[in-house]
Amino acid sequence: MKILKSISSLKAWRKKQSSLKKSVGLVPTMGALHAGHIELVKKAQKNCATVVVSIFVNPTQFNKVEDLKNYPKTLKEDLALLKAANVDAVFLPTEKMLYPDDFNYKVSEENLSQFLCGEHRPGHFTGVLTVVLKLLNLTQSTQAFFGEKDFQQLKLIQGMAKALFLESKIVPVATVREKNGLALSSRNKRLSAEALEKAQIIPELLRNKKNSPAAIQKILLEAGFKVDYVEDHWKRRFVAAHVEGVRLIDNMRI
Ligand code: PAF
Repeated sequence: MKILKSISSLKAWRKKQSSLKKSVGLVPTMGALHAGHIELVKKAQKNCATVVVSIFVNPTQFNKVEDLKNYPKTLKEDLALLKAANVDAVFLPTEKMLYPDDFNYKVSEENLSQFLCGEHRPGHFTGVLTVVLKLLNLTQSTQAFFGEKDFQQLKLIQGMAKALFLESKIVPVATVREKNGLALSSRNKRLSAEALEKAQIIPELLRNKKNSPAAIQKILLEAGFKVDYVEDHWKRRFVAAHVEGVRLIDNMRI
């Protein structure tokens, strides 16, 4: 597994893949990897001849300093997982490398980013779209893979690829869940065993199609969650709720 720590080494690696006529799959991540990320890798390996995973905790998508500070960082374990999954290359950029412009140039969206997480995390999607565009440009990926757990993010990235005529195909991958139904997330690492158990009520409520969004919101509030939203969009039901100060999101088809 190639470890690429500079833009020049990534470009040289990419050039080599082109000369070998290999398609390139990109799996962008912020590290703290789990089985959900490995599903993205597997799909990328199925669709593309070679796969690069990027690990970069992108500061511009965090609207709260505390959240960025507390984001789990597990690089050693991440690299071991990726090696075991037979990933071809890992790109490990620094903030200085990805933001030579100090984030003066940005990609913003004015419609789909205005509700759900966009409403509750001002600037979040501008940070996401900007870093994803940079990663797509740098890797010149043939296809890039994103989980449906972050469904609004996926829609926005698909929209950006279309609006800006990007070459890379944006491929959705279904959410991976714990046995109890909880959607896998790097943030779950910050929850106590008690909170992890409590959080399984979220997928349970989403699965029961008889519940209205208002009824779900009431149940979550009564169970002690702080609720950002329970709303329906794109024929799916979306929840964002906090437990032990950790923000969890999930969505399911209705
Ligand atoms: O979904 C994530 O982990 C991040 O938002 C992404 C796409 C890697 C951009 O930083």
